[in-house]
Amino acid sequence: MRPRMQESSRPSQKPTLVVGSDHAGFVLKSRLKSALVADGYRVTDVGTDNATTSVDYPDFARAAAAKVVSGEARFGVLVCGTGIGISIAANRDPRIRCALVHDTTTAHLAREHNDANMIAFGGRIISEDVALDSLRAFLAAKYEGGRHAKRVAKLGLPLGEQLEPIG
Ligand code: RB5
Repeated sequence: MRPRMQESSRPSQKPTLVVGSDHAGFVLKSRLKSALVADGYRVTDVGTDNATTSVDYPDFARAAAAKVVSGEARFGVLVCGTGIGISIAANRDPRIRCALVHDTTTAHLAREHNDANMIAFGGRIISEDVALDSLRAFLAAKYEGGRHAKRVAKLGLPLGEQLEPIG
């Protein structure tokens, strides 16, 4: 008789995540980080570490993006005041696809259609509960590939390179 694999001997491996924020995103980032740890994720926090000292969001976007690019983290979570600056900064690297999301729909579509590897929130824009629901929707969703694959590949191309004529 073949031994039966015990479910408990194959614990589901949750991916390592990286979180980063500026001062304006610190409170929301902290709430999201606590929830992720409670959900069983390993979480690396690249800072910042308080809401009162004014800092520059590109520094934290770049630190978090570097961990995604290196593979130390599977996904990254970024928060600044609006989510705009920190997502722009992360997307400067062609290997990063950082989606600024505002609800669960944009969050799961960012994974399903865009294969996003980072998600950004505006700490001064979105409620903590909606942000957490959106983050969980993002992490639960799967990239669909198929018709999206060619488009996602084009996201990493420099402007001068074109895979095929447009129009
Ligand atoms: C900081 O005041 C604010 O400008 C920043 O958090 C972010 O909203 C920029 O996009």
